[in-house]
Amino acid sequence: MDDGQRIERALDVAVAHAEAPGAPPLLAEAIRYAVFPGGHRIRPRLCLAVARACGDDDPVAADSAAAAIELLHCASLVHDDLPCFDDAPMRRQKPSVHRAFGEPIALLTGDALIVLAFETLARGAARVPTRLAALVGLMARAAGSPNGICAGQAWESEPSVGLSAYQQAKTGALFAAATVAGAAAAGAEPMPWRLLGEYLGEAYQVADDLRDVACRQEEVGKPVGRDATLGRPNAAALLGMEGALHRLADLAREAVAVIPDCRGAERLREEIQAQTRLFLPARVTAELAA
Ligand code: IPE
Ligand code: IPE
Ligand code: MG
Ligand code: MG
Repeated sequence: MDDGQRIERALDVAVAHAEAPGAPPLLAEAIRYAVFPGGHRIRPRLCLAVARACGDDDPVAADSAAAAIELLHCASLVHDDLPCFDDAPMRRQKPSVHRAFGEPIALLTGDALIVLAFETLARGAARVPTRLAALVGLMARAAGSPNGICAGQAWESEPSVGLSAYQQAKTGALFAAATVAGAAAAGAEPMPWRLLGEYLGEAYQVADDLRDVACRQEEVGKPVGRDATLGRPNAAALLGMEGALHRLADLAREAVAVIPDCRGAERLREEIQAQTRLFLPARVTAELAA
């Protein structure tokens, strides 16, 4: 099975638990709707790539970590699209969850996905309790406050915030969790992997900011130009297109340079370079090549 198949299967098993007999039908349907069909699945791919670089001696634990990361990400998107945050009518080329199911179910879908992430970890990593304990702690850190997704979203309610602190919490934390969890699931020392995830998360958010100013809604499957409308910090707006592209290139270079020594380092480097190219909208890639 390739990584994409491993991820879809682990997510399907997780979501099926929320669809067991007795589940409220609308909530069950909305949970599946929020997870499938997926987007880039970039965080779980990163998690599995790091697990492999570290030997991947417990694929069930690695799959559950990858699925848990993606479930947290899907939860964050459902909540992020709500009228009280970005009020986005569209996500992944279809109506956002609250547009399809109403606000109460969307709020509960996000909540249920966060809980499902931890349940999925507990099921998949229970055979090695020391790894499970590490995984639970690092997922919680990525999801919560002061440095996780909740904190990142909360900065939008403050009168001012620096671009880097905002992006690190909003996006970097879950990428860092992806690399660290990949290592922890494979029994490797997790902390040396944090920096790689932080750089990649920041790079990915810069790429998303570029997409927000340079793409059309049909290309990205969600509203564009939102950061300006909502007054959110945006790397392309703050640094200019050229400046943001340079920042992205620098971050991608730094990421590859901090991959810890391990058996699979060379392959991981190649995988990350290939993924980084996929971050960018075609027009921006063409401009880079010109
Ligand atoms: C969107 O993330 C939100 C950001 C932090 C940029 P993705 O671009 O990974 O969304 P999907 O999963 O592919 O839809
Ligand atoms: C979403 O950030 C990130 C989280 C939900 C934590 P954005 O609001 O910038 O991303 P999009 O453009 O809606 O995907
Ligand atoms: Mg947002
Ligand atoms: Mg948004």
